[in-house]
Amino acid sequence: MAFAQIVGWGMHVPDKVVGNDAFVKMGLDTSDEWISSRTGIHERRFVENGQPVSDLAVEAAKQALQVADAHPRDLDLVILATCTPDQIMPSTASFVQHRLGADRAGAFDLNAACAGFVYALATGAAQIESGRAKNVMVVGADELSNHLNWQDRTTCVLFGDGAGAVLLRASEEPGIMASTTGSDGSGAGLLEIRGGGTKASSNGNASANGKAVLTMNGPQIFRWATKKLSEAATQVIEESDLTVDQVDLFLPHQANLRIIDSAAKRLGLPREKVFSNVDTYGNTSAASIPIALCEAISQDRVHVGDNMILTSFGSGLSWAALALRWGTPIPSSVARWTPIRLQLETRMAGLRSAIKKRERAVRATIGERLNRDGG
Ligand code: ACO
Repeated sequence: MAFAQIVGWGMHVPDKVVGNDAFVKMGLDTSDEWISSRTGIHERRFVENGQPVSDLAVEAAKQALQVADAHPRDLDLVILATCTPDQIMPSTASFVQHRLGADRAGAFDLNAACAGFVYALATGAAQIESGRAKNVMVVGADELSNHLNWQDRTTCVLFGDGAGAVLLRASEEPGIMASTTGSDGSGAGLLEIRGGGTKASSNGNASANGKAVLTMNGPQIFRWATKKLSEAATQVIEESDLTVDQVDLFLPHQANLRIIDSAAKRLGLPREKVFSNVDTYGNTSAASIPIALCEAISQDRVHVGDNMILTSFGSGLSWAALALRWGTPIPSSVARWTPIRLQLETRMAGLRSAIKKRERAVRATIGERLNRDGG
């Protein structure tokens, strides 16, 4: 059986940095002290001018291709974990596949909210392990800023926008060793964005841009998440025949530093084995784990042979965990010609797309004429 290895990685966040004080200036009854001491968050990034989530996803995926020195046409599949797609259909993954120039790849969105990236990683790995795919691009990207109620201090201070991506490739060595995914829909009402779907009901609110807003029972999610993170992590540690002592790095979903600390304590993991960057990005939903992975790599916290545990939780309620052994040497720099080659490939993909669109239009016109003449 083939294993799935992460061979490329990338992240992209919007330029706009929003500190905690910005919420106080907006007139919200909150403070930097409350937000940072209760969540660990100091700032987050928000998109501007309606930038679609596919923009962030494409940039992250391009970086992952660069790191792996891979060609977009090598991709068999693009899986995009998001709960904030560009539009209801087609899938945002199709936009990403197209803009990358990944002409041979299938593409689909996966929605497991904040747990989406680990769900997608497990799904991509299964495709590789079964022999159905060799190269799978897994992206986590979200823009929850589109769905925040700026008058609700219990939610709007928690989230940020961003994207992260990894390229999974078939390998003889592990790789991803174990994974688990779970759902408990009885808790669906604890964290939701109603509206925009086929159900008539909405929560009666809309954000400034007219979109349905997120509502959450924070304390209940908090209690559930601390328990679930450690339970799911324990399951994949056992299934990969590891002990907690053999875990080199714990990369949990970045929602709240207190949740992360409490889960690590339950697992018996020392602080130096736990990665967190919730202070700078807030909760970026499906993007949080791949962004954390990229930053852990750039901080020299990931080495060949390391055992890593990824765990996530979110709306659903849903959760996922995964154990992997890191197998890819960290390149000190990307080959100089790789970005140039990728830029050229992206331009070529754009050109191919323009030709295809034109061809489709010409065929349609000819078809119409033939029908008219025939009739
Ligand atoms: N500023 C000031 N006060 C606040 C704020 C704020 N931003 N938010 C809440 N408070 C107040 C509350 O109104 C409450 O006041 P009261 O006692 O007068 O009623 C008090 O602070 C305590 O509120 P709690 O909700 O009990 O505070 P808690 O310590 O639980 O922290 C928090 C709230 C940060 C939301 C926490 O519960 C949490 O992180 N929960 C998990 C949320 C989460 O991880 N969600 C993401 C899941 S991933 C996904 O799928 C999107």
